[in-house]
Amino acid sequence: MCGIVGAISPNNVVPLLVEGLKRLEYRGYDSAGVAVLADDHIHRVRRVGRVVEMENAAIAEKLTGNIGIGHTRWATHGGVTEPNAHPHVSEDELAIVHNGIIENHEAQRQRLKALGYKFTSQTDTEVIAHLVHHYFKQHADLFKATQQAVRELTGAYAIAVISLKQPDTLICARVGCPLLIGLGEGENFIASDVSAVLSATRRVIFLEEGDVAEIKRDSIQIVDAIGAAVTRKVHVSDVSLASLELGPYNHFMQKEIHEQPKALSDTIEQVLDAGFRPELFGEDAEDVFAKVNAVQILACGTSFYAGSVARYWVEAISGLPCSVEVASEYRYRDAVANPNALIVTISQSGETLDTMEALKYAKSLGHDLTLSICNVQESAIPRASRLVFYTRAGAEIGVASTKAFTTQLIALFTLAVTLAKRTGRLKVEKEVEYIEALRHLPGSVQHALNLEPQIKSWAERFSNKEHALFLGRGVHYPIALEGALKLKEISYIHAEAYPAGELKHGPLALVDEKMPVVVIAPNDALLEKVKSNMQEVRARGGELFVFADLDSHFSESDGVHVIRTPRHVGVLSPVLHAIPVQMLAYHAALQKGTDVDKPRNLAKSVTVE
Ligand code: AGP
Repeated sequence: MCGIVGAISPNNVVPLLVEGLKRLEYRGYDSAGVAVLADDHIHRVRRVGRVVEMENAAIAEKLTGNIGIGHTRWATHGGVTEPNAHPHVSEDELAIVHNGIIENHEAQRQRLKALGYKFTSQTDTEVIAHLVHHYFKQHADLFKATQQAVRELTGAYAIAVISLKQPDTLICARVGCPLLIGLGEGENFIASDVSAVLSATRRVIFLEEGDVAEIKRDSIQIVDAIGAAVTRKVHVSDVSLASLELGPYNHFMQKEIHEQPKALSDTIEQVLDAGFRPELFGEDAEDVFAKVNAVQILACGTSFYAGSVARYWVEAISGLPCSVEVASEYRYRDAVANPNALIVTISQSGETLDTMEALKYAKSLGHDLTLSICNVQESAIPRASRLVFYTRAGAEIGVASTKAFTTQLIALFTLAVTLAKRTGRLKVEKEVEYIEALRHLPGSVQHALNLEPQIKSWAERFSNKEHALFLGRGVHYPIALEGALKLKEISYIHAEAYPAGELKHGPLALVDEKMPVVVIAPNDALLEKVKSNMQEVRARGGELFVFADLDSHFSESDGVHVIRTPRHVGVLSPVLHAIPVQMLAYHAALQKGTDVDKPRNLAKSVTVE
């Protein structure tokens, strides 16, 4: 969704702002803009469409300046138009960019109109520009004016402000949306995501809820929500620039699918080093796990499906009751709280608003035992959680989550086994078996990746289909769900997933010779049941595309196509079977010519409701 970058430097900041915005493109956006201060004017360039179009316009206008802000916008308030693109300007004196949503923007707009301000956009952001300007007239201090203005805002925001009247100062503030300061030598930066400043610095300060910061070339001052001066820790980011580059691949999704053996072994390494020990989840984990008598998982999208796999693992391995719920539903219902339940939020980005709000809601109900599984260090959700397990997937750029999902599964499996140790359900031989399963998984995933040519030929047959069904049973049912989500989000083919046993309770009515039915059918305890369900499909003319493992003993026949993943990998089989469904979606999308990494209407980090 929206992205922010800003810089103050003795050098021209425009190239850095443009590069930063390009790094933020993966988050999803529909327009882009930058504003710089130079020659006693605000120079602003905004364009609907890609950053490169805005960049070309900035080059044509010879835009330069030593202080500036940039933004990629994902429309919420007002259509995708140039007047609605950021930065927004007040009285030709002050420019602002904003991520998030201001809930009281209408009341503020009426008030500011009464004060004589003219609005040129339909955005909630323009309200902030005029509000800061209004207080700047009174205080003649941009830092103070911004502090006063943000006190009157309700909603979520990360903002950056510059003004002609204080051209040596960049102000920023945040509530509910991430924002960080990048520390340079004689220059400083801000960004909503570390990738935007990585080419300039690795040293970053993550602002906390309610912080407002005044940034000059050589100094930084931060105040907290009540206006008290605070010092925030400096982090050295471990995100590599290579992880943000495509390298030899055509798409980030393709790259990230192929990075899974490494992402998995990096994530597994910490488990192999420590064993299934509570410390993996944080210093406090021993105490927290000692109180846990149930697990409640909250997440969205693919992360929700990771949680859905975990439900099977947690109950089967640890014996603790486990429920999993879509975060956007949980946050709005009158949930009955069990204070001894471990609240597990799962989020690749760590900033999904619905998941964050669900966590806050759980805490408001008295839940104190909270764990976050996340791929982005220091992001909002882990920071709001008592315990954290960071997956080591590396930066995930493609909107479709792939390596984040499979590494989340490792974290969740580790949680299930660690809890089982506490509940006394883990036999020594099982522990050894699980460690071995983890150790061998990256190799099996590498073998599964070698199936790509076969999967590609299947995908060619999907490209002219309008619908597809995915079936799975037990712990593989969420993999069917994930396969359907992947296919629909990047190829725009309508896909649904069902537990195979549900077929005859309704969806079987959809099956005819035009309906491809993808089946996840490894050699587990439910295989014979799945085979019966497949017969039901064949009897109605449905074409079956079966992902089986070598031990499932399927043979091809008329209307039954089979791709065999490596030997059955036991309890970790859902991780292995995620790989072929990802590749199927990727190649179907290629066939259809969609924008694989930035599918229409979607964003990487969903920071609005
Ligand atoms: C996955 O392919 C999706 N793009 C989406 O469902 C995503 O998993 C969801 O928005 C949750 O994101 P998070 O893991 O960053 O919280």
